[in-house]
Amino acid sequence: MIIQNIKIQNIRSYEFAELPINKGISAIYGENGSGKTSLLEAIHFGLSLRSFRTSKTEQIIWNNELKAEILITGNTKTIRTIKDKTSAKAIDENNEKKISRKELLMQCPTCVIENKEFSFTGSQPDYKRKYLNKILFYVEQDFNNFYEQLSKIHKQRLFCLKNGQKKEILIWNKALIEIEPKITLLNKCLINDLNAFFSTNDHLSDFFGKNNWLRRINFKYKAGFDEEIGLEKHLGNNFEKEFVINKPLVGLHKRNFDILIDQDDASSILSRGQQKVLSCILHLVSKEFIEKSLNIQPIVLIDDICSELDKENQYLMLKYLNNMNTQAILTSIEKIALDNKFNANLFYVEQKGDITNVKR
Ligand SMILES: Nc1ncnc2c1ncn2[C@@H]1O[C@H](COP(=O)(O)OP(=O)(O)OP(=O)(O)O)[C@@H](O)[C@H]1O
Ligand SMILES: [Mg+2]
Repeated sequence: MIIQNIKIQNIRSYEFAELPINKGISAIYGENGSGKTSLLEAIHFGLSLRSFRTSKTEQIIWNNELKAEILITGNTKTIRTIKDKTSAKAIDENNEKKISRKELLMQCPTCVIENKEFSFTGSQPDYKRKYLNKILFYVEQDFNNFYEQLSKIHKQRLFCLKNGQKKEILIWNKALIEIEPKITLLNKCLINDLNAFFSTNDHLSDFFGKNNWLRRINFKYKAGFDEEIGLEKHLGNNFEKEFVINKPLVGLHKRNFDILIDQDDASSILSRGQQKVLSCILHLVSKEFIEKSLNIQPIVLIDDICSELDKENQYLMLKYLNNMNTQAILTSIEKIALDNKFNANLFYVEQKGDITNVKR
């Protein structure tokens, strides 16, 4: 979907705001606290029913009002998202029907790159796991089914471990051993694709010219257990130990991947700016994978795009988005330098007292 217009009401510092945008890049700039991140958060919430800033989503409602609304008009549909203190729902304006979260994600995928993603290379395993899960959710039809089964097995194993159910856990261990190769295979294929994308992709060549170190980046999948020993043996060896500590020791809930520069951990070698370049590229690559699989262009939302990046890397990032014909909404504290050749529009976020407004 290409977004054409965004209206938000009662969100963060906005009582009301409207942002008419086009295909291509929309660059929004403004002072600290003016409402840039809030705008991206509102768009993301409108298309996913989640905030990337908080799990307490009632916090997004302006000044303790009763409800907030986001109306996103796209070329294929219009979605109204309503958030009140306790719930959130998305409605297809054309037929007034509720859209489930899964449908919303499939129809209007987004790629958010914000503060937490800037140091993605050194982030916690669960963060990297989420990255893999997100891509697999879109590109592998079987993954959702496997993932639901895995969550159930994990929950049941945990229950058995907490309640000392040594006989019952054997059923769930068997289920885990059965599903493991399927999930490991999907994850390994994805990591192979990532490695291939980095070593062969022409679209990244501009980045490689300036950031030569990118050529040495590679990814290594970690299954969550020693694959040479195998999960079955691990579960057998750890049987008593797991009942002592009341939680699983090894398993798919620990799957992860290393981001390496040659053989070394990239996060301990790369500078902050280099890490941001790599983190942004990794997320943009996930966008390419999703786009190829769904044949729908995800909307890219990048908060604070310029921080940590020198002028040339800022330019390369914009050039990439422009060349890929991506619809991207970007924010920055300073006016973003946009090449005349780019299909781009500039907006300014203006703050008057507690109220924010966006204008061209
Ligand atoms: N529920 C709310 N109601 C009213 N105002 C809020 C609410 N939540 C946050 N704010 C205010 O919204 C303003 C906008 O915050 P936001 O994070 O969007 O700013 P920003 O432009 O991204 O700033 P920075 O450049 O520092 O990242 C802040 O002043 C914040 O205090
Ligand atoms: Mg911000």
